[in-house]
Amino acid sequence: MREPSPNRVSQAPGRPPVASPPVTSLSLSTSSAAEIEADAVVVGVVQGADGLVLLPGADALDAALGGRLLAALQGLGATGKAEEVTRLATLGAVPAPVLVAVGLGTQAEADDPERLRRATGAGVRALAGASTVALALAGSGARPVCEGALLGAYSFDRYRTTSGADHPAPVASLVLLADEDGGALQEAAHRAEVVVRAVHLARDLVNTPAVDLHPEDLAEAARERAAAAGVEVEVLDEQALVDGGFGGILGVGQGSVHPPRLVHLSYRGGSGSGPKVALVGKGITFDSGGLSLKPSASMETMKSDMGGAAAVVAAVVAVAELDLAVDVEAWVPMAENMPSGTAIRPSDVLTLRGGTTVEVNNTDAEGRLILGDAIARACEDTPDVVVDVATLTGAQLVALGARTTAVMSNDDGLRRQVVDAAARAGEPSWPMPLPAELRKGLDSEVADLLNTGPREGGMLTAGLFLQEFVADGVRWAHLDIAGPAYNTADAYGYTPHGGTGAAVRTFVQLLEDLGAADA
Ligand code: BES
Ligand code: MN
Ligand code: ZN
Repeated sequence: MREPSPNRVSQAPGRPPVASPPVTSLSLSTSSAAEIEADAVVVGVVQGADGLVLLPGADALDAALGGRLLAALQGLGATGKAEEVTRLATLGAVPAPVLVAVGLGTQAEADDPERLRRATGAGVRALAGASTVALALAGSGARPVCEGALLGAYSFDRYRTTSGADHPAPVASLVLLADEDGGALQEAAHRAEVVVRAVHLARDLVNTPAVDLHPEDLAEAARERAAAAGVEVEVLDEQALVDGGFGGILGVGQGSVHPPRLVHLSYRGGSGSGPKVALVGKGITFDSGGLSLKPSASMETMKSDMGGAAAVVAAVVAVAELDLAVDVEAWVPMAENMPSGTAIRPSDVLTLRGGTTVEVNNTDAEGRLILGDAIARACEDTPDVVVDVATLTGAQLVALGARTTAVMSNDDGLRRQVVDAAARAGEPSWPMPLPAELRKGLDSEVADLLNTGPREGGMLTAGLFLQEFVADGVRWAHLDIAGPAYNTADAYGYTPHGGTGAAVRTFVQLLEDLGAADA
């Protein structure tokens, strides 16, 4: 990411550049929760059939408090409902001055690792400003506790010149309390750190305003992070895009003074015999709609229209850092969709990679134009599986709301596999169809395809458009993350306001599954 530069319009004059924030550390300790030196200790509580129940990790604290912990929490109104956060002063009974009880919901719900992730995340988020926080609920699941805690320790401060009580820094240091710090636990903590660092990368990229993240900057950020992880990187510039016949990426990018890019990442961790997986992510650094201009209110969050690209780049980095046994080729198209004298017009015809022609009846349906190029290119290497991810349609938000990713596919098994990987990663998703009869909505009178069909089923026709660029015999899935990529509401659980890093964890899980299936 480009550092804020004072001579650019978004920048307050004379403001010093902001360094990237320190990473929250995670360590293991076999100390008792009643003896650990920390600013706070987090325990878990459950909504039992007969009232509040403490999770076992709270036993030592309860003993140190004379067996009065449950009654004290009840006195403060704790019920154990999901993501409830209750603070209690320990008044010198243990070294940690504050105890935080986080709710996991009913006993049945509490068995879902995602409840543990969210509860821990909510607790760590509520403790922002603290320097050291101990986690006394690892017995219920070390990996979800580590992931939830680290996911909750995030803030985007790059443009703040003051720190204050209204936006405290994330917890600096997390200590996971466990009976023994064996290899399995260290492995869980390591994996959580790698995956969450990738999620934070995606969040940072999404949160960075478009003035500091033009296509060249996004490509440069991808190059830096991927190269550091040992991933091979190739960046195609305008000339390479012209030479390669990438008419969709060039067409969308031609209205902006900031030229488009196509980033290609290669990670070869498989034995060569395993499944070859291609990932594709939409990287519109700002979506004004182009000449089919968006209303101002709809434009406000459109710096997030590269959430798919961020997820793909971050996931490939994590997969490489985890040495997963899979081969991945990522194709990430990047462009800025702007209205200008050089912009594409409604009725223009573009020729995408592979020769398919597209009549652009709406320049705001730009994502599918750059993705068509990238999917066609990805298929040229005959992958077994292609998965694309994109903040593609407002219709996704209408259909599934802001938190649930839509999963479409040309293969029932792959769609199930993606939905299942997402569920285990803790990312809500739901299968959606690609009804063949909607395809005729994309018939053009002058070209092979129209880029925009009727309003009804808008998410599905977008999927059907992309399917046109998938080569025969290639299993393909499409994730629409228009809502999930960017949280316009208040923070909840471990999810901050703004960029969420949606799909990163799903991709890492999916690639791990695909690699394991081969082994
Ligand atoms: N980037 C938008 C989709 C979007 C909307 C993402 C809201 C996140 C929140 C996409 O490029 C777009 O503008 N889609 C249009 C398509 C339409 C013109 C067929 C839409 O959904 O309105
Ligand atoms: Mn658009
Ligand atoms: Zn868009």
